[in-house]
Amino acid sequence: MTEIEYREGVDGLSADSLRGFFVGWPTPPSPERHLELLRSSSHVVVALDGPRVVGFVTAISDDVVSAYLPLLEVLPEDQGRGIGSELVRRMLRRLADLYVVDLACDEDLVPFYERLGLMRVGVAMGIRNREALRR
Ligand SMILES: CC(C)(COP(=O)(O)OP(=O)(O)OC[C@H]1O[C@@H](n2cnc3c(N)ncnc32)[C@H](O)[C@@H]1OP(=O)(O)O)[C@@H](O)C(=O)NCCC(=O)NCCS
Repeated sequence: MTEIEYREGVDGLSADSLRGFFVGWPTPPSPERHLELLRSSSHVVVALDGPRVVGFVTAISDDVVSAYLPLLEVLPEDQGRGIGSELVRRMLRRLADLYVVDLACDEDLVPFYERLGLMRVGVAMGIRNREALRR
């Protein structure tokens, strides 16, 4: 198994290196849209196995007091190798000066995030506009 390289930002990444993500989404964004959302995020950490992106985490932030982590994913075949944990650790280090760092997750992932130092804070609320994924 090759060594994983972690990188902040998307410089040098192509859409072609972003295949296989958004597993289980009703209409997965294309690799091109994926690259676009990475570029538009306030902060990004990607995990690379050679030229291939195998995991990523994004943050949207005002960079004054708060940040939100909307997306974290590791390709199915690369899960369970510590990549997801390392992505979150690196993102949390990047955001260490902020007061609020929030994310929403399913109940089964609570122990994963608790191991990384997060705690339960209130209830997540949201909207899922499937039409937006068809654009
Ligand atoms: C969650 C996710 C990013 C973790 O990435 P990873 O590289 O496998 O994480 P790590 O190897 O660092 O940690 C693995 C641990 O995460 C926990 N875990 C991961 N997914 C889990 C799930 N669906 N339910 C419960 N625990 C889970 C397990 O405890 C696992 O430990 P194990 O390997 O001993 O079984 C990855 O499973 C993934 O991409 N899932 C689909 C997308 C997703 O759910 N993203 C999070 C949105 S909030």
